[in-house]
Amino acid sequence: MRVLISEAQIRDRVRELGTQLSREYAGRPLTILGVLTGSVVLLADLIRATAVPLRVALISASSYGGTRTSPGTLSVNSSLVPDLKGRDVVILDDIFDTGHTLVGMFDAVKAFEPKSVKSAVLLWKSDRTTVELIPDFYGFKIPDEFVVGYGLDYNDEFRHLPYIGIPDQDDLIAASGHGTPAS
Ligand code: IMP
Ligand code: MG
Repeated sequence: MRVLISEAQIRDRVRELGTQLSREYAGRPLTILGVLTGSVVLLADLIRATAVPLRVALISASSYGGTRTSPGTLSVNSSLVPDLKGRDVVILDDIFDTGHTLVGMFDAVKAFEPKSVKSAVLLWKSDRTTVELIPDFYGFKIPDEFVVGYGLDYNDEFRHLPYIGIPDQDDLIAASGHGTPAS
């Protein structure tokens, strides 16, 4: 698999993002809300790079009827979300592609009456973004390539890779063979 962003590059950039969040949210009641499942690797690293008191929470979203590259109808499950009233919230996801997932998340989170809501992602496919929203914090802008690793999956595989890679056809076929083929 071709490595697009190495483990060392990710480590350095996540540290910078932590510093950015630490400056922005010093003295404020921060909750970092990770979007399951893609954000979990970034979440674990970013919270340890952020030097302000903070809370961690999780939210999940699934997109039904979409394909690998185009989103379907988004269903947000906020049953795990704690009280966010009066808190500053950063919604954390692995990637900002078309932006539909993050838009759905903002709507769901606003119902909890937080003090503020911003978004942070590791990757931003800026050429594909079709919504008004842009991520407030992001690690890397990337071209329109399907990527996996560091939380990002294909057919739920590859999330554990420590780098961001571009899978070739053989990688995708191998991953599809381990379960239901992805659409
Ligand atoms: P959006 O709603 O189009 O912004 O897409 C966001 C979601 O699509 C992410 O949370 C990922 O689950 C998935 N996604 C988009 N691009 C990729 C990719 O290149 N690799 C793996 N997942 C992706
Ligand atoms: Mg995802």
